[in-house]
Amino acid sequence: MTYENLLVEEQDGIITLTINRPKALNALNTQTILELQHFFGEDAPQREHVKGVILTGAGDKAFVAGADIKEFLSLDTQQGQAMAQRGQDTFFLIERFHKPVVALVNGFALGGGCELAMACHLRIATENARFGQPEVSLGIIPGYGGTQRLIQYLGKTKATELLLTGDMIKADEALQLGLLNYVLPAAEALDKAKEIIKKTATKGPIAIAKVIESINAYFQYDEDGFAREVAEFGHTTGTEDFKEGAAAFIEKRQPDFKGE
Ligand code: CAA
Repeated sequence: MTYENLLVEEQDGIITLTINRPKALNALNTQTILELQHFFGEDAPQREHVKGVILTGAGDKAFVAGADIKEFLSLDTQQGQAMAQRGQDTFFLIERFHKPVVALVNGFALGGGCELAMACHLRIATENARFGQPEVSLGIIPGYGGTQRLIQYLGKTKATELLLTGDMIKADEALQLGLLNYVLPAAEALDKAKEIIKKTATKGPIAIAKVIESINAYFQYDEDGFAREVAEFGHTTGTEDFKEGAAAFIEKRQPDFKGE
């Protein structure tokens, strides 16, 4: 596959994977999701010599500002569910990748961007990073695992507040809350990500893979909250409220929700 929206650079066995749509603050359109799916599902597993992956966003303003609102604003319920399922399946490939994936969060990580960072094994942020799940401001809910993973990292209390208010938090607060491993100046963050991956590469590769599998096993619940999220995301994409929320975003005004 030729990537339109991903830059893949490999140096000393470490891949830096950059989401490259800076004019749209690296928003995840369908093409980008399909490219991530191909990279983690087919491309990276074949690169047996690789030590790990650093995932980041192009430019100095955003990691990823969410799913591409302009692309999905006309989806109905079924199409919304298909979109959420595709995104969740892709993010599971990242979470289940057998080598460390480190998110290098270099700016806004909102909506699908926060969800993408949470699907990575470790998160290092620069000091200007901002995190949040602002979907309710658009009249929808998170669809790429946000209602599940935010609770996993933050606990129910703070996650509920952020999911209900759509508020953004700064990097230092995200660090205190347990969402991040490190907050560093931009000049040091990449080196730290490389240092961690190099250290893991000195360990037993099967042990590294099995630690990742075992950590993921801790979060296998009887009730499938991810499936519930897909259903409810599709429900919200089919509402008039979402049409109004997305239109308000594009027209740069406050939404007037009717609860329909
Ligand atoms: N989708 C599409 N385009 C986006 C985008 C997104 N998520 N985020 C930003 N952009 C675009 C803007 O429309 C703008 O494009 P134009 O120049 O063509 O108008 C460009 O990127 C720059 O953005 P802003 O002018 O808005 O920059 P700003 O500095 O004023 O604000 C921001 C930055 C606070 C991140 C703001 O862009 C913003 O609020 N973005 C949307 C964040 C959001 O709601 N994310 C959730 C999306 S829904 C989702 O992710 C669902 C899911 O779980 C699957």
